[in-house]
Amino acid sequence: MGIILGIDVGGSTTKIVGMKPDGTLISTMLVKAYDQLTSLYGALGNYMDTNRLELSSVQDIYITGVGSSYLNGNIYGIPTHRVEEFSAIGMGGLFLAGIDQAIVISMGTGTAFVQANKGSYKHIGGSGVGGGTLIGLGCRMTGADDFDSLCRLADKGSLKNVDLTIGAISKKNISTLNAEITAANFANLNSYTTEADIALGLVNMVLQTIFTLGVFAARGTDTPDGPIILTGSLTVLNQIDETRDAFSALYPNRFILPHDAAFATAIGAALHGCGSLM
Ligand SMILES: Nc1ncnc2c1ncn2[C@@H]1O[C@H](COP(=O)(O)OP(=O)(O)OP(=O)(O)O)[C@@H](O)[C@H]1O
Ligand SMILES: [Mg+2]
Repeated sequence: MGIILGIDVGGSTTKIVGMKPDGTLISTMLVKAYDQLTSLYGALGNYMDTNRLELSSVQDIYITGVGSSYLNGNIYGIPTHRVEEFSAIGMGGLFLAGIDQAIVISMGTGTAFVQANKGSYKHIGGSGVGGGTLIGLGCRMTGADDFDSLCRLADKGSLKNVDLTIGAISKKNISTLNAEITAANFANLNSYTTEADIALGLVNMVLQTIFTLGVFAARGTDTPDGPIILTGSLTVLNQIDETRDAFSALYPNRFILPHDAAFATAIGAALHGCGSLM
């Protein structure tokens, strides 16, 4: 039996993973998507070369993501199957977390919310607030010119002169909300606010929005306190652990950040070729 490739051609990046038919992950690779078809073939060539694999060793390719619509037919004569993105997100998220039921969030260029029960994957909805928002606003509002420089800037920032907290507007806790909770993102900008503070404020606002929508998505299901799995390239943000801790204190849901979270959708696509694991 040959290997299976899962390729996720997203709005910002192309992810590629190799998998054995028993679900063992061989390796992962991420390339920036300048144009979808070029990055798809570039990523594939790079992946094969880096892992010293022959095309003849590839049994099937499973492709998903918004950019997969640009591809017609097979890739280099290898049977190439299109996988619906939301089932790939759900399947990949559950597989990486090792559980059978959850809300799976894909934190990508935009954000998608999938209600995943092993074997059944439902797109609850999406939000345009995601990694693309962070880069767009971040590059316009600070001196950063890409994701990495924006992250470096954010790592030096403070939220003190960016966000309005509950503590700043109320002497007492409001219901279960303590003084540290954000009352309004960016409502405390002032003359002391630095570019680094703004970068951190944007990271924080995007993460808080995504986590909040994840909790609300869970509330619409019959397991409102159930687990929430975080996937997508935005999970690499250094601030995600802090956000997770804050939300874990506030809500009953367990927020799971699995290993290889950025590759969950590509892994979910590849799993479509591993019949017994689906
Ligand atoms: N190496 C990277 N290159 C570009 N963006 C990155 C990188 N690492 C993290 N990011 C962030 O992650 C976001 C893209 O996430 P991801 O790769 O999951 O999305 P996508 O799959 O391309 O898009 P979508 O799923 O919305 O179609 C970017 O907008 C950026 O904020
Ligand atoms: Mg994606």
